[in-house]
Amino acid sequence: MKDENIIQISNDVKNLGVFSKNNFLDEDDFGFVSKSLIELVKKQKKIYFPVTFKQFFIKFIKFEFKKSQTSKKLIDISNKLKLKKIASNILGKEAFLETLDCYLSNKSNKQILEWHNDIGFKPPNISEDDFLKEAQATIRNKKDGSSRGVKFFVYLTDVKSNNGALGVIPYSHKIVTALTKLIVENKINIKPYWKLKDLREFIFSKNIKESIIQFVNSDEVDRFIDYSKFIDSSEKDTFDFDYEMKKNSVVIFDELCVHRGSAPVENDRLVLRYLYRKK
Ligand SMILES: [Fe+2]
Repeated sequence: MKDENIIQISNDVKNLGVFSKNNFLDEDDFGFVSKSLIELVKKQKKIYFPVTFKQFFIKFIKFEFKKSQTSKKLIDISNKLKLKKIASNILGKEAFLETLDCYLSNKSNKQILEWHNDIGFKPPNISEDDFLKEAQATIRNKKDGSSRGVKFFVYLTDVKSNNGALGVIPYSHKIVTALTKLIVENKINIKPYWKLKDLREFIFSKNIKESIIQFVNSDEVDRFIDYSKFIDSSEKDTFDFDYEMKKNSVVIFDELCVHRGSAPVENDRLVLRYLYRKK
């Protein structure tokens, strides 16, 4: 990957929250990855690949050699494509590969995951204290919580609108970042905002929009409010922000973006994910 491409990708993710590209891996690498992952998910739908020495060691004592071998190759590919450098540029701090996994979603009419952002407070799944640790780690680089980062979705099957595509609302990471910052700085009271519906309610509550505007251009806030109004409609979904991708493509996005995985209505979906976080 050339330096100018890395800068272009990083700038797009920083500004818009998301970047997509077809023909991501070279032909040989894609052939290897595709064959290996299709084989592995026959036995187990979700696979975590080892990335740390300890995780490789655990796979070794469990005789899971195939996963370790595949992981080494997947890490080699990430080095070739300079994914760590891209993530570091986006996050403004040195990043590391925290999770490497792949999963198969079988053909279904059920949304893979509803519209949400990855940091938002979501009781009762997380306590206020644990949420604050994650928020501090993400906003202030504090070390006692795990921070949110950048995800690389590499598709091994084609995805279309209403068939497994990821939807990402542009600029939404800026709103979620501002809100999280205001909570961390004790300027506003905490409320749930993992779900898009809750996030909008939060923004509309007293004086919140005015506070967000201190950090985000007011046009971008209004644009987000307009883009996300579908959630209050009877359908509660839109396909306007879907990334229709061919196999061997990538969608790179900031985890603070509002996103959802649409139902793989027509065929199974197989995706490989690299997740980078701040060191
Ligand atoms: Fe998510």
